This record gives sequence, C-alpha cells and structure tokens, in this order.
Amino acid sequence: MNIEKAKIILKENDQEHVLAFWEQLDHAQREQLLTQIAELDFKSIARMRCMLEAGDVVDQSASQPVPPQVLELSVESRANAYTAGEAVLRAGQVGVLLVAGGQGSRLGYDGPKGAYAIGPVSKASLFYFHARKILALSNRYHVRIPFYIMTSDVNDAATREHFEEHHYFGLNPDDVIFFTQGMWPSLDFEGRIMLDQPGHIFMSPDGHGGTLSALQQHGCLADMEQRGITTIFFFQVDNPLVEIADPAFIGVHTAQQAELSIKLCAKREPLEGLGVVVERDGRFEIVEYSELTHDQAHQRTDDGELYFKYGSVAIHLFAFDFLKQEALRDMPLHIAYKKIPCCDADGNLVTPLENNGCKFEKFIFDVLPDAKQVVNLAFDRAEEFSPVKNATGNDSPATCRQDLQLKWSRWFKELGVEFELDKSGLPVLPLEIDPVYAMNAAELRARGVLLSGSRCSGFQAAGA
Ligand code: UTP
Repeated sequence: MNIEKAKIILKENDQEHVLAFWEQLDHAQREQLLTQIAELDFKSIARMRCMLEAGDVVDQSASQPVPPQVLELSVESRANAYTAGEAVLRAGQVGVLLVAGGQGSRLGYDGPKGAYAIGPVSKASLFYFHARKILALSNRYHVRIPFYIMTSDVNDAATREHFEEHHYFGLNPDDVIFFTQGMWPSLDFEGRIMLDQPGHIFMSPDGHGGTLSALQQHGCLADMEQRGITTIFFFQVDNPLVEIADPAFIGVHTAQQAELSIKLCAKREPLEGLGVVVERDGRFEIVEYSELTHDQAHQRTDDGELYFKYGSVAIHLFAFDFLKQEALRDMPLHIAYKKIPCCDADGNLVTPLENNGCKFEKFIFDVLPDAKQVVNLAFDRAEEFSPVKNATGNDSPATCRQDLQLKWSRWFKELGVEFELDKSGLPVLPLEIDPVYAMNAAELRARGVLLSGSRCSGFQAAGA
C-alpha cells in the first residue's frame, strides 16, 4: 500500500482524517500506518457505521422467548453416551478449539490469560491444565487430537512462547495449531476510526465470534478436513475445570446428529453474567443476561426455580460441516461503548473519563439460530465450571483454586480417602492432580496408590 492508494481508500470510506498527522510522521511511523490501513476490513467498518447510525433497535415483531428443553442424563444414559463418545474419540475424529485471544482486562494480568499460574501446588498455568487433558485423552484413546488455539495480536507471541518454554506440555507440536483472530478499529460516535497515536490506529480483537472467519482464513478448516475431524470441542481459556472433549457430551451430540451442542448450568442468581439459552419461533438463541428484561431475569416457576434457569458457559460441540458453513457467513456485530485512549486534535494522547467511542465484537453464540439440530445438555457446575474472570471476589483465581481442590477432593472421597479439612471443607494442605496422572476418580483408583479407608493429612500429585 502506498500513500496515494491509502488516500483513495480512505476517501471512498469517508475516513480521510486517519492521515491527519501524516506530515509529522517519520518513515517507520508512515510504514506502520500504511500497513494498518491495508489490513482494515472496510466492509465490516461500513456495517459498524450503519449500526451506529441506526442506534439500539429493538425488534418489536420478535415473539416472546421460552426456556428450551434441556437434557439431563441419568446414570445409565450417561454411561451409554460415554461409550458412544469414546468411539468417536478413538476414531480420531475429535478436534479441540480454544479461544484465547481476549485481553483479560478484568483479571488485569500482564500476559496471556492462559499463562496465568492457577495450579494450587505447581503454580502451573491454565494452558498447562488444558494441554495436559488433551494429552491424557490422546494417551487414553491412542489418537492424535489436534489442538487449535486462537490468539490475537495482543497475545499471540507470548502464547507461543509459553508453549515453547514448557515443551508444549508434552503434546506433539505438530498437533498444536495457533491462529490469530481479526483485529478491528474502534469508532467514535460519528463513525470515525480512532487513532491512539498520530501514526497508529487503535485496534482490538474482533470477539470470540471471530473464530469462524479466522479458522477459515488460516487454513484450520482445511487442516481439520484433511485430518478427518467431524466433531470440534470448543471452550474458553479461563476455566480449568472444563471436561475437555467429554465423551458423554460427544456421545449425545453424535447420537442426535446435532450441528451444535451446548452445555448449560443452573445460574447462581438471576443477574449472573451468563448468556441464557432461549427458544423463539422454533429456533434457539443465546440472550445475554443484560438483554433480558427485569421480569424475564427474575421470573420463577411454581416450584421456585428461575424460569430462565440455564446459562451457557461457552462449552460447545460443533459438527465440522456446520462450522464450515458458518465460517462463510457474516456474523452479527455487537457494540460496546467504551473509554478509548485516543489522540486529540494536536496528536496528544487523551485518556477519557467518559465513554468516547465504540468497540465492536462478534460472539460465537450468534451461530446458534442457524443450527437445525441442537442439544442442550445440563451439567453440574461444581464439576466443570469455575472461571478466572476477576482479580478478586467471585470467579477469581482464589475461587477457582478452591473449586479445583474441591473437585479433586471428591475423587479421593469416592475412593474412601479422607483428608484433614479446614472450616470451609478444603484440604488443609494444598492438593493438585496432573490430568495425565488421573482425569477422574476411576483413573485415580487405577493408579493403585490408594487404599479404601486410608487417611491422608495431605496428598500431592502435582506436576509432570
Ligand atoms: P471474556 O469475554 O471473558 O473476555 O472472554 P476476556 O478478554 O478473557 O476478559 P475481559 O472481558 O477483558 O476481562 C471469554 C473467552 O473468549 C476469548 C477469551 O480469551 C476467553 O477465552 N476471547 C474473547 C477471544 O478469544 N477473543 C476475543 O476477542 C474476546
């Protein structure tokens, strides 16, 4: 891209102000700005501007949402589904897709969130627990399980370094595929692209919904096809309790020939920040908690349960063909009004006190209404969900470490091993189990190190 071409493109798109400081820039800054302009997705920017002009439009014709039918597996049906899912895993048809491109601003950690040291004993990272579970599954089923990791420009290099530094946690590097999501500019309220330096456009990741187009652009869909992957397990980086590629989940998904399956858990409280799955006109949608009316969020059934009881925690299974189809579609955009650091008229950086612009994002769950066959499967959050979102309080490293240890303690309890517990029911000595050592109580038992009725004052099976 040269300056003449840049001028033409910016004029066509009514964004000529991007070159306002051109004359003051040195050679390197000019090159940087031209590269950024060349990479801008003006088709999406035009959609963003239309959204901004239209304002918040509520579709008055939409019918009222109702709760979906949610499947709860009995012990027997779970065992059957588990066996069916194991066959799919054993056939090497399962891939794992992790979205890890977010900025983790609430946690405030200096680095990719996946590198955060969550292990109660080992201080191993979130990535460690995810990777070791995949390794354990590969070992158990004697297959290669490709691990696709979406990063963004914000954390791509640091994420790759983290994996290299830890020797891919034992995984074959050929089966760990990093790819970057798109980055978008922010717009001010007049729809103008915002600069954070005279020669630099402020950019941020395009949301976890950016996964689909990024998979397509970076050849990951072709890679899946070539490996014969039919079923893709999707999850987020912040939840080390996740049961990656849970065979029972895969079994139900496969038996029902679902295009998309969703794991759902009961919300803690009416306004918990989880998207709620609803059914509307025969299709499923996820409605953000903030988009439910007060009455909808608080409505209860006669037995006191929340009417919209189930929240989605972004644990999904995709049928490969559905993923491929959706990757070619334009996803809806979501606006977030933000305080965006930007240049004033003289090119000085201003950190605003009020919202001064908008970020736009795509959300993965917007593909849900397109899925013709959907499984909504209930799960027990104590077993599978405790995210690291905030630095303190709810959903923080402290609560997550507690929940991990409680989960592992339950395995020991199942084997009849007791620990010395503190007042909150946690083991007095920190506890940790490497997923490759055991992924459940049965595997712990198979290790043969524990005797029923034995008593431990602390047990540590950390690290690999
Ligand atoms: P969150 O919505 O929790 O965002 O992302 P975040 O960036 O991790 O944290 P905050 O909101 O800034 O505090 C949920 C998942 O989606 C991924 C995140 O990495 C996380 O796994 N994500 C989010 C992306 O991969 N790309 C994005 O653009 C946004």
